[in-house]
Amino acid sequence: MSVMLKLGIIGTNWITAQFIDAALATKEYELTTIYSRHADKAQAWQDKYQAAEYFTDLTEFFKNGQFDVVYIASPNSLHFEQTKQAILAGKNVIVEKPAFANPTQQHVIQQLLDQNPDRFVLEAARHVYEPNFTHIKTAIAQLDDLQGATLTYMKYSSRYDQVLAGETPNIFNPVFAGGAAQDLGVYVVYDAVAWFGSPDRVAYFATPTPTGVDGHGTAILTYQDFDVTLIFGKNTTSFLPSEIYGLHDTLVIKPNAADIAQVEKHQFGSDMVTPLGEPAAANPMRHEAQVFADIIQQNDHAYAQQQFDLSAEVNSVLYQLRRSAGLHFPADSVSEDTHAE
Ligand SMILES: NC(=O)c1ccc[n+]([C@@H]2O[C@H](COP(=O)([O-])OP(=O)(O)OC[C@H]3O[C@@H](n4cnc5c(N)ncnc54)[C@H](OP(=O)(O)O)[C@@H]3O)[C@@H](O)[C@H]2O)c1
Repeated sequence: MSVMLKLGIIGTNWITAQFIDAALATKEYELTTIYSRHADKAQAWQDKYQAAEYFTDLTEFFKNGQFDVVYIASPNSLHFEQTKQAILAGKNVIVEKPAFANPTQQHVIQQLLDQNPDRFVLEAARHVYEPNFTHIKTAIAQLDDLQGATLTYMKYSSRYDQVLAGETPNIFNPVFAGGAAQDLGVYVVYDAVAWFGSPDRVAYFATPTPTGVDGHGTAILTYQDFDVTLIFGKNTTSFLPSEIYGLHDTLVIKPNAADIAQVEKHQFGSDMVTPLGEPAAANPMRHEAQVFADIIQQNDHAYAQQQFDLSAEVNSVLYQLRRSAGLHFPADSVSEDTHAE
C-alpha cells in the first residue's frame, strides 16, 4: 500500500475546497498544512479540515510546513514564484491552470526541474485527466479525414459585475495575468494541442475589457490540412456545443469542450447518433487528483515530463494568441535571467 501524501494548500477560494474534497476522496492524500495571508481564514480552514498546522507567512510555510505536495490556487501571476519556492524547499507542486504567465516563466521552471530531478510540477488542467477527454482523442483517430473543429467555452463570470462597477478583480487584471484566454481559453487550447497537435499559425480576435485584458474572443488555429476555431470568454455565455468534423462523421461535445458531459458521433446522411463518452465524475477534479497521486507515488517522471511538455506547448499557444491580439502582461517584460534569480 502506498504512503499517504501530505498536502499543503495555497489559496482559500472555492476551487481549493473542491480540490481538497477530490484529493481526500482518493484516500491518497491527507490535508496537513494551510497557508492564507489571513490568520482567521487559515484557522477556520484548519478547524474545518482538522489540518495539523497553518501559516500566514509564505516563507515559513515552505520552510517549516510538514507536507510533501502543495496545491497552488492563487491568482495566476503568483504561480511562478510560489512554484519556484516550493521546488527549492523540496516540495512537489500541483499548480492550477494556467500554470505560468508566459513561456519564459515556464522555461525557468523546466530548468529548475532539471536541476531538481526528483521534484514534480503538475498543472491542474482538470478536464485532460477525465476519461471523456481520452474517449474524444480515440474517436478523432477513427474519423475519416479530419476537417477541423469548433471548440467553445464561454461563461459569464460574476466577477465581471465588479468590472462593470469600475473595479479590477484579479481575474480581469493584467498584473495578475488574467483575462478570457488565460482563464477559460486555456481549456480549449489544451483540447486543440492534445487532440490535433501544435498549430502552424494562430490568430486571436479579442474583445477587450476596460481593465486591459480580453473579455471574450475567437481564435483560429491553422494546421496543414484543416483549422480549429476556439470561442471562449468571461463576459457573456455561449450555449453552443463543440464539434469536431470528419469528412462524413461529426463528433459533438456537450455542453462545451471543457465541461465534457456528453460525447456523440453523428453520421452524415443518417439519423444515427452514437454515444461515445461516459458519465462525468460529480467532482470534476476527482480524476486529476488520482492521477497526480499515482505519478508522485510511483515516481513516474516520464509521464510527468510528457504532461509538462504539453503544458509548455499550451502556454506557448496562449502567449502567441495574446501577442496576436496585442495583450501584454507586466510579467512578459521580465527577462529569463531576472526570473531565474
Ligand atoms: N480548475 C478549475 O476549475 C478552476 C476554477 C477556478 C479557478 N481556478 C484557478 O485557481 C486559481 C485561483 O483562482 P481564484 O479565482 O480562486 O483566484 P482569487 O480568488 O483571485 O485568489 C485565490 C486565493 O489567492 C489568495 N489571493 C488573492 N489575492 C491575492 C493577492 N493579491 N496576493 C496574494 N494572494 C492572493 C487568496 O487567498 P488568501 O486570502 O487565503 O491568502 C484567495 O483565496 C487561478 O489560477 C484559477 O485559474 C481553477
